[in-house]
This record gives sequence, structure tokens and C-alpha cells, in this order.
Amino acid sequence: MLNQKTVRDIFKGEFIGKEVYFLESTESTNEKAIEIGKKREDSEGIVVVADSQTKGKGRLGREWISPPGVNLYFSVILKPDIPPAEAPLITLAAAVAVASVLRTWKGVPADIKWPNDIMIKGKKVGGILTEMKTRGKEIDLVVVGVGLNVNMLLDDLPEDIRAATTTLEIEKGVPSDRVGLLGGILAGLDNAYKNLLNGNKRALINGWLSLNCTIGNRVTVRDHDRTITGVAENIGQNGELIIKLESGETEIINAGDVTVLKN
Ligand code: BTN
Repeated sequence: MLNQKTVRDIFKGEFIGKEVYFLESTESTNEKAIEIGKKREDSEGIVVVADSQTKGKGRLGREWISPPGVNLYFSVILKPDIPPAEAPLITLAAAVAVASVLRTWKGVPADIKWPNDIMIKGKKVGGILTEMKTRGKEIDLVVVGVGLNVNMLLDDLPEDIRAATTTLEIEKGVPSDRVGLLGGILAGLDNAYKNLLNGNKRALINGWLSLNCTIGNRVTVRDHDRTITGVAENIGQNGELIIKLESGETEIINAGDVTVLKN
């Protein structure tokens, strides 16, 4: 059961989990976390968890469907002393934390589609939305929001996204404990965040590479009104996607939607 009591002492890491706020329902845990982060100087590591969201936000302005009683929706406030250009690495770290827990604790073949879609056998099971506020050239705060489809069945989703979506319950055939999963993900994120702050970007990127399903494949990337097709060659130092176009040129992509093409 996910509630005020069960989340209170869920995980206390070096950075993450010093306080956990639980809300039955909120518009968006990212919004709530930004609000707290702006108000409180000492908010690094605070986690905001909700049982449901009424205006859950997805990447690229999309909605994140967030029904009650079934899934995980949470956001972590961070105040890293790193250049804003490195902030995308925090998103990669969160994706690694989620995919690793799904693999090791749940035994499902989870992987990561660039930049941070959590997939199981080509279907999306979770996503991450990182939002950053800067002051001058410095990061004021970063909010990492994670949505994971745990015990939801597909009837809760609009028909047009059902075919591309899955949930842990569907993959495993049994419900999972949301509290345990949340604790595991926070522990993984705490660990990855330490690597980032210690300047150990390589460990983080290697972790991401070992779990990704994008690099080495032909892909199409849609970014606003632009569509690019090529081979996803690698990720850059700050998590950007490096694509080799058919013309032989290289493109560096910072945001977009990737479709992995079957050869
Ligand atoms: C994506 O589009 O893949 C990102 C989805 C991120 C959803 C999570 S749910 C918790 C947090 N609060 C939000 O409003 N969005 C993120």
C-alpha cells in the first residue's frame, strides 16, 4: 500500500530521501516539487510521491495518464553544483535506476530508449521528465519526475497508445509492491547522483549504455517539425544522441522522439 505511513521511511540516502511528501492526488508531482524547491533552500533530496495526478506531464508537452491506486508517480528535488549543460545526465541516471530495478528485482527485460523511455520488449512501461530552473549560468534546481506503469491495466489508457504501452502487471501476471519499487529506484538514483557529483560521468554513461536499446540501431528521430533517419552511433558526454546520417554526416540531437527501425 502506498500511503503517508509506508513512504515516510522508505529510503534515506546520502542525498535523496531526507523527506518524503505523500499526496493522495495532485496536479503533477513535478509542479509540487518545483514549488517546494523554490520555497526551501534546503530542499535537495526531498521526494514528492502521489497516488494519482490530475495533470501529469509527459515529455514534449504530452499528458501522463495517472490513475489512482496502481502506478508510481514521483519527483525528486536536486540542487547539483554542475553546469546546466550536464543536467541531462541526471535524467540518464534516473533511467538507469528504474531499468536496473526492473531487471534485478522483477526479472523483466527492461531497457532504455534514448533519452529516457523505459521499455519492456519494445513497449513503454515508464518515463522520466526532468525540469530545470537556472539562475544566471547556474542551476537553481532540478526536478526529476518518474512515472512507472506498475499495476495498471491498459483499459485506463486511451486506445491510441495501448499498443505501444505495457505495465509490470501485464509483463509479470502478478501485481507488484509499489513501495518496494520506489525504495529501490531511489537507492539507485542516490548512487548514480553521487557518481555525477564526483565527476564520474563515465560510470553513469556506461551504465546507461549497458541498458539501452537505441545505440547501434537505425532510428528515426522526430524533433518538432524535423524528422531525421540514420544510425544511432553513440551518446555524447552530456547524454546527447549522436546520429550518423545516410549522407555520412553526423547530427547531434538534444531532444526528440526516437523510433527504432526494424532493419
Ligand atoms: C515521458 O513522457 O516519458 C515522461 C513521463 C514523466 C511522468 C512523471 S509522473 C511523475 C512526474 N510528474 C509529472 O507530471 N510527470 C512526471
